[in-house]
Amino acid sequence: MHGFETRAIHAGQEPDPRTGAVIPPIYATSTYAQDGVGGLREGYEYSRSANPTRTALEECIAALEDGARGLAFASGMAAEDTLLRTVLSPGDHLIIPDDAYGGTYRLISRVVERWGVTWTPVPVSDVDAVRAALRPETKVVWVETPTNPLLNVADIAALAGVAHQAGALLVVDNTFATPYLQRPLALGADVVVHSTTKYCGGHSDVVGGALVAADPALGDDLAYHQNAIGAVAGPFDSWLVLRGLKTLAVRMDRHCDNT
Ligand SMILES: Cc1ncc(COP(=O)(O)O)c(C=O)c1O
Repeated sequence: MHGFETRAIHAGQEPDPRTGAVIPPIYATSTYAQDGVGGLREGYEYSRSANPTRTALEECIAALEDGARGLAFASGMAAEDTLLRTVLSPGDHLIIPDDAYGGTYRLISRVVERWGVTWTPVPVSDVDAVRAALRPETKVVWVETPTNPLLNVADIAALAGVAHQAGALLVVDNTFATPYLQRPLALGADVVVHSTTKYCGGHSDVVGGALVAADPALGDDLAYHQNAIGAVAGPFDSWLVLRGLKTLAVRMDRHCDNT
């Protein structure tokens, strides 16, 4: 496998077959000409369902997180909403950090709860507290590590074991560490969440989100819901995040040095 920096620059970004452009073009198009009925060119039909600039970002972020499938969204919250609506049903329970990012807390406590989902806030740095909060109907253990803003840290590998033993998914919000410093899927997590607005974008010029799934079947289910719900990353935003990812490694090294 190529190194991190090589993947950041090349994964999902073959030179444009028509012109040789080394950077994926911004495909500002809503729809695509077809070669006859159902004759899609490379599967592109309508840009909510798929857009080549977004595909490049999705393949790149999946490669950086060592995942089976990456999906790009209009914001981190759009990614979270799509994930929660894919994996939860009324009656299900989830565990969340007691210091989760405020927007995550608001989405779960004010929006998702209205659909009959219960949740328990737990200090996710305490593996025993997470284990004690599990219920038969727990479907998701949601971890942010480090947390925003208190920077608490969770043991992803230990929590993956705890969650899987209970038949729950482990979701990790990797916004702060980024895949350069931490790869949750390699530690046993099922889905990674990103606000690409932060270090992945890196220039405070775009709002975006991403999901990366370890399991292709879950990735397909998330992609189905991405299209069904429609909170996708646009081609301009996808291009900006792709450009940001190219310098993620050097920026994170500098952040670490400064720290
Ligand atoms: C850890 C974390 N997760 C999710 C989000 C939400 O992302 P967005 O603002 O892109 O919707 C944020 C935003 O600050 C965040 O810090």
